[in-house]
Amino acid sequence: ATYKIGYFVGSLSSTSINRLLAKALVRLAPPELELIEIPIRDLPLYSQDYDADYPPVARAFKQAIADVDGLLFVTPEFNRSIPGGLKNAIDWASRPWGQNSFARKPSGVIGASPGAIGTAVAQQSLRGVLCFCNSPLMNTIEAYIQFKPGLITEDGQVTDDSTAEFLRNYMKELHAFIVRVLTVLPRNG
Ligand code: FNR
Repeated sequence: ATYKIGYFVGSLSSTSINRLLAKALVRLAPPELELIEIPIRDLPLYSQDYDADYPPVARAFKQAIADVDGLLFVTPEFNRSIPGGLKNAIDWASRPWGQNSFARKPSGVIGASPGAIGTAVAQQSLRGVLCFCNSPLMNTIEAYIQFKPGLITEDGQVTDDSTAEFLRNYMKELHAFIVRVLTVLPRNG
């Protein structure tokens, strides 16, 4: 079977290293996974005022999440947490009350930073948010990517063999996790 994975890039930067990481993960994913980006850029700032009537952009965003089997968060760390744009997107998806898009939707988190701890603190924060949002989370493996210039090319080729192998294995484990979760929690069950 083929599984659809919707991925979010937590950065809006035109030179984002996390976008490069996402491109690499698309390349390294096993053939059973189809990776589809779910863009967060066009969402306005969330307010509870919208709950009565979500704008089309937010409805499309929630539909994109509904259409996939699992989620992958590829995010930078901003001030030891996740970027506001990504948190905003999560807040949109979690509402209106009773229509939380993350419920039973399995997810994985990964991120890259030039710093040595490679987004570890942001990922901990993100895990707390996703846990509250009732998304079954892949616990192991964890992936904290320290990005050195040239590690991933513009078209998503990983130039370091051990990193490429590690990321390939990450996507293999994500696939196995999605299969396990969907066995107990079928999509429409
Ligand atoms: C950063 N950066 C950063 N890095 C880190 O490892 N921990 C952190 O807490 C922060 N905080 C932070 C805040 C803000 C506002 C910015 C702009 C940057 C550096 C960050 O890792 C670096 O800019 C990456 O290149 C961001 O990822 P993208 O946007 O290139 O994918």
